[in-house]
Amino acid sequence: MAKPTGDLPLDARHRLRSLAVFVVISRIFSIRKHTDGPRVDPRAGRATLAGMPESPHVPLAFRRRPLDEMRKRSERTLEVARGRRSVRFFSREPIPLDVVERCIATAATAPSGAHKQPWTFCLVTDPALKTRIRGAAEAEEREFYAKRAPASWLADLAPFATTASKPFLEDAPALIVVMAQRFGATREDAHYYVTESVGIATGMLIAALHDAGLATLTHTPSPMKFLAELLGRPSSERPFLLLPVGFPAEGCEVPDLSRKPLEAVLVRYDGSAS
Ligand SMILES: Cc1cc2nc3c(=O)[nH]c(=O)nc-3n(C[C@H](O)[C@H](O)[C@H](O)COP(=O)(O)O)c2cc1C
Repeated sequence: MAKPTGDLPLDARHRLRSLAVFVVISRIFSIRKHTDGPRVDPRAGRATLAGMPESPHVPLAFRRRPLDEMRKRSERTLEVARGRRSVRFFSREPIPLDVVERCIATAATAPSGAHKQPWTFCLVTDPALKTRIRGAAEAEEREFYAKRAPASWLADLAPFATTASKPFLEDAPALIVVMAQRFGATREDAHYYVTESVGIATGMLIAALHDAGLATLTHTPSPMKFLAELLGRPSSERPFLLLPVGFPAEGCEVPDLSRKPLEAVLVRYDGSAS
């Protein structure tokens, strides 16, 4: 079969070939330009990536606040954060579960790698299930304190006076087991930066619960595999953290700790040293 250009006069064929060369060269230049980084579409004012289909965007809802209000809000947040402590003795008094669920909704607004939202929050209030969780956690913790933990780790834990006994797992009216999804519905649905994403979401959850007036303990029985089994979670999920939630027990005490001052944790790179 003859090529489509075969019947054209020589001059037209030359012109067509020149056009094809021009198109190829301009494509190469355009790709090189785009691979330098995100390109801002001047009409839409948004970044697009070379070769990527445009996704729907909406205007950012950002509220610009007066300077004194910004200062007041950051001071208030700091004061609230300073008041948070890990609580190891809980009252059995019921807690408003709608508040807890709203705090979980807050945690679920966290940023995540490629917006995969790789978390599941298991809210356990069933007393029988809490008893089973306590039993399994204490079995692991007995092994941890007696055999698995190196002496240096036990020495670091001494100020907290923790033991293998975990009554808070039954006393606290709610346990939130945070699960990290290693991948999605199938292994092909990859998740990225899972630990970082779930860590950020968990931090937001702890902060939200504290701000709402509830106490928590960041608990990591070691190892935590038993939680996935007891909760019947899929193999794509691994237990990340266990948070007992409730009101502190009457007369609850906490270790006398101090936090590193700002100057010990903040390094400024403002050009003033050079
Ligand atoms: C990742 C992580 C794991 C923790 N695991 C436990 C734990 O298993 N048991 C416990 O009693 N406290 C645990 N804690 C609580 C820490 O001991 C506590 O956050 C720290 O001593 C500071 O005290 P604060 O939370 O009252 O400020 C854990 C904290 C973090 C961040």
